Amino acid sequence: MERTFLMIKPDGVQRGLVGEVIRRFEAKGFTLVGLKLMSVSKELAEQHYDVHRDKPFFKGLVDFITSSPVVAMVWEGDGVVAGARTVIGATNPLTADPGTIRGDFGLNIGRNLIHGSDAVETANREINLWFSESELVNWTPAMKPWLE
Ligand code: TYD
Repeated sequence: MERTFLMIKPDGVQRGLVGEVIRRFEAKGFTLVGLKLMSVSKELAEQHYDVHRDKPFFKGLVDFITSSPVVAMVWEGDGVVAGARTVIGATNPLTADPGTIRGDFGLNIGRNLIHGSDAVETANREINLWFSESELVNWTPAMKPWLE
């Protein structure tokens, strides 16, 4: 089953939007298989955003996600990588569609509330970076037949 890595960034945690964000993925029918509130080290932040290392916004991004706690999550479901990106919305909240998390709550491109893996390969890399195998729970929701 496909899995993706999602992270509620410090702005989402500070603004009390953790429940709202999780509610949207639950309601969509995805399955939560890993969840933790944590502080992010500079090393982890730099590894996570390694692809952006040469971008002008890299340092600000690392400073931001290490500034206060984040909620790291792994979600499972058919097509969950692309599906979660649809629920999240475009990178810039000012142009993200209404009804998406970023469109409804995000303030600007640097404060866009949540990260979601952009491809299955990236998801696998990010899940391994943020979670150990023992932190992930293999389970099938009792209501699964209704979600198929
Ligand atoms: P990116 O991977 O392009 O977007 P997404 O989070 O939608 O996959 O960029 C990673 C993060 O970097 C993005 O969520 C916010 C930040 N960022 C900026 O601060 N300025 C920028 O111009 C861009 C493109 C991204």
